[in-house]
Amino acid sequence: MTVNREIHLASRPHGWPTAENFRLVEAEVPTPGPGQLLVRNQFMSVDPYMRGRMNDVKSYVPPFALDAPLDGGAIGEVVAGEADGIAPGDTVLHGLGWREYALVDAQGARKVDPDLAPVTAYLGVLGMTGLTAYAGLLDVAAMQPGETVFVSGAAGAVGSVVGQIAKLRGAARVVGSAGSPAKVERLRALGFDAVFDYHDGPVGNSLRAAAPDGIDVYFDNVGGEHLEAAIGAMRAHGRAAICGMISQYNATEPPAAPRNLGLIIGKRITLRGFLVRDHQHLRDGFEREVAGWLREGRISYDETIVDGVANAPDAFLGLLRGENLGKMLVRL
Ligand SMILES: NC(=O)c1ccc[n+]([C@@H]2O[C@H](COP(=O)([O-])OP(=O)(O)OC[C@H]3O[C@@H](n4cnc5c(N)ncnc54)[C@H](OP(=O)(O)O)[C@@H]3O)[C@@H](O)[C@H]2O)c1
Repeated sequence: MTVNREIHLASRPHGWPTAENFRLVEAEVPTPGPGQLLVRNQFMSVDPYMRGRMNDVKSYVPPFALDAPLDGGAIGEVVAGEADGIAPGDTVLHGLGWREYALVDAQGARKVDPDLAPVTAYLGVLGMTGLTAYAGLLDVAAMQPGETVFVSGAAGAVGSVVGQIAKLRGAARVVGSAGSPAKVERLRALGFDAVFDYHDGPVGNSLRAAAPDGIDVYFDNVGGEHLEAAIGAMRAHGRAAICGMISQYNATEPPAAPRNLGLIIGKRITLRGFLVRDHQHLRDGFEREVAGWLREGRISYDETIVDGVANAPDAFLGLLRGENLGKMLVRL
């Protein structure tokens, strides 16, 4: 028997998750039935939204079940089964990560060309996080050339792409915030005009220094103090794409900020939450444009890769602690 190693949710966290919330389980590799594919996963994604799915609450995605494998974006090679024009040897993107072998319904798999880009790119810059950046900046916040853009979580998978797309689409000034001096340095190399470490003082002060004339667009990955600072720095008719609020995902008490919400009236600010899944119609245009920038060397992406399914919980916990530069992935 070939052994399939997978990660189960052992218990639900209260506050910060720990290694004890996960369990490594060995199971038999399944056999595909009609319409199914057996995929040897090569890489899986860990993402901040998975923290919300560890709670037993109603949300836009169902919670993870206890004592069952977690799931999420993954890419791998089909090793058995044939359906919907997909056959052994093909590389597919699907939603059953956190395990070495996945039994995937062919309808839930998308064939990708591993010769067009490294397979990891389909989980990051050319995948879900890249589309999130593209859709949030250009569709939700409707950034225009000549505007000033602020992005938080700027050294992460979404944020680093937001800042680069903003520059490529003609932003006058792009400001980023991140959590370490090394990240700040990397963002300067990627072409951000001003970057600050949010640990260095009140975010409002750092943002005022980085964007003395104010901002037109805020891409929010963090929430809390960052959102309050962005509202304070907004010019009239500013727009915020509310993508994520990672500063609050492990909070056990609701946050106090933003305390200056009243400013959105006089400044006529739009705060708009969004989910990438509602922007799939942009996928073709996004892939064409970003793949072109990648080919021309005009956009860069970072990856932090952790090895082995047994270390997937550590990769996820590391992501929440900011141990990643760019996209956090697990090689399986
Ligand atoms: N709406 C959607 O459809 C959608 C889709 C994808 C992602 N998202 C959201 O987008 C955001 C970024 O996701 P991602 O996949 O690109 O993750 P990521 O930014 O690659 O990784 C998470 C980063 O968050 C930062 N962070 C953690 N705690 C923080 C805190 N208290 N304050 C400020 N920063 C903190 C860490 O970097 P530092 O070292 O800089 O702290 C960490 O590296 C998340 O909020 C996620 O939930 C939303």
